[in-house]
Amino acid sequence: MRRKLVAGNWKMNMTIAEGCAAVETFIDAVELKHMVDVVICPPATVLHNIFQLVRRTHVEVGAQDVFWLEKGAFTGQLSATQIADAGAKYCIVGHSETRGKFGKLEVTPETLPYFSETDHTVNLKIRTLIYHDIAPILCVGETLAEREAGKTDEIVKGQIVGALEGIEPAELMKLNVAYEPVWAIGTGQTCDTPEADRVCGMIRSKLNEILGEDLADGVRVLYGGSVKAANAKELFRQPNIDGGLVGGASLDPHEFSEIVKYA
Ligand code: PGA
Repeated sequence: MRRKLVAGNWKMNMTIAEGCAAVETFIDAVELKHMVDVVICPPATVLHNIFQLVRRTHVEVGAQDVFWLEKGAFTGQLSATQIADAGAKYCIVGHSETRGKFGKLEVTPETLPYFSETDHTVNLKIRTLIYHDIAPILCVGETLAEREAGKTDEIVKGQIVGALEGIEPAELMKLNVAYEPVWAIGTGQTCDTPEADRVCGMIRSKLNEILGEDLADGVRVLYGGSVKAANAKELFRQPNIDGGLVGGASLDPHEFSEIVKYA
């Protein structure tokens, strides 16, 4: 039986003081049980402070991204050694916001694909995380245009294959995958539960094929995209959903603690 995982992705929110206050409130509000793993992914500037706060609890911290090389002239980037040094045990990779896909056709300053992550860079990042014993949370998901064209499964499978290509299955024991339909992120529009469960099941079949059933069985498949207290219970009950990657709702410590309780 896989343990459920709930990860909060704070994105570009929270100062050190705000983040610490939120985590203190969260720890007071939540009843942490051994059956569920909880990860908070704050901005890099706040990571170490949150790590210090949670180190005696069951909560872990994660980074929101990583660069694949070890050190050097890469302005603005952070290596796996650096995020591990700050306390990260998990790291998000291939988030649709770093893949630069906002599901919109017109390019405006808001929709400009700033980071242009590709399956290849995602693959390199997963390799460096494995090497440093950090658990990847690999995000996959289709845009609205891809869904409307009936390409959801093809896109998601392609992202998984690209992300894991050439990596020894035995090295992927700490892998987590989050199905995050791009059109459901930060929009309040959740993918309907049976469909979220179906795609997560499809992801599991693909993982079985790539890793073999025994290894794939340890990989958690999460759902992400407008998860909140009001829909978490229903989502986490589904047979193919092993938890959630929560953006906006993880910024409110009371709401986040409710979500964790449902897991
Ligand atoms: P959301 O974000 O919960 O605000 O939709 C989820 C995510 O981007 O991981």
